[in-house]
Amino acid sequence: MGAPNAILSVRNVYKYFGGVVALDNVTIDFTAGETTAIIGPNGSGKTTLINVITQWVKPDAGEIYHGSTRLNNMRIIDVVKLGIGRSFQIPRIFKELTVMENLLVGAISRLNKNYNLFGSETACVRKVNEVVSLFGFENKLDLPASQLSQGERKLLDVAMCFTLDPKILLLDEPTSGVDTKRKREVIETIIKVGHETGKTIIMIEHDIELAVEYSDSIIFLKDGKVIQNARKDEKEKVLKLIG
Ligand SMILES: Nc1ncnc2c1ncn2[C@@H]1O[C@H](COP(=O)(O)OP(=O)(O)OP(=O)(O)O)[C@@H](O)[C@H]1O
Ligand SMILES: [Mg+2]
Repeated sequence: MGAPNAILSVRNVYKYFGGVVALDNVTIDFTAGETTAIIGPNGSGKTTLINVITQWVKPDAGEIYHGSTRLNNMRIIDVVKLGIGRSFQIPRIFKELTVMENLLVGAISRLNKNYNLFGSETACVRKVNEVVSLFGFENKLDLPASQLSQGERKLLDVAMCFTLDPKILLLDEPTSGVDTKRKREVIETIIKVGHETGKTIIMIEHDIELAVEYSDSIIFLKDGKVIQNARKDEKEKVLKLIG
């Protein structure tokens, strides 16, 4: 089991890909309602960490807990049903579809008999409308996603995760591909909406300054190992370490 007050716990997790150690004895406790940034160089295991937590990839050793529920070997859909959502490094939006269609596709695809997360179509549409106003998409609903800026596309991708009403959101580089001056707007929107809806957010972010500014704690991964797990007020320590 994880730490008593942790919403999510990763315990002594290892993941190997052939001779590569992608995660090397990783132990982390995530606190409910907080934002945690995962930072580290390319290939340090950041995406693999999100993959093993959400069960897209099975760990070779170690445990993952949501409260007292062990997630190892659960089906991905059962992890989603527990309220754990994720986004991908490359946005999974449909460029030919409008903003509204994208949000509905994401939500409706979960409405079938086995995967029903909403109970009814009405509840599904209500949730989509709620997400539209949280993200301020009201004036863009009829635009094809191809006409959105890169920042708006990334936000649409995150908004699609919100339609499933997760309690915990794991975001793989929500600002990648967005130009530097727009990155702040994207992060700010995600953090604002996350706070308003009481989410626990775990996000991979390459921009260290933004990661430190917008998160409550920072995990620095290198070669699959946790090199630093620092609170926001220890940010000098993190910045020095990264140099
Ligand atoms: N499916 C896979 N098959 C083989 N090797 C993999 C696979 N997934 C990840 N790896 C390897 O595991 C290591 C960690 O990869 P991971 O994608 O987790 O890194 P990352 O920190 O997300 O990198 P980036 O910043 O480039 O996204 C890398 O050496 C990568 O090549
Ligand atoms: Mg990655």
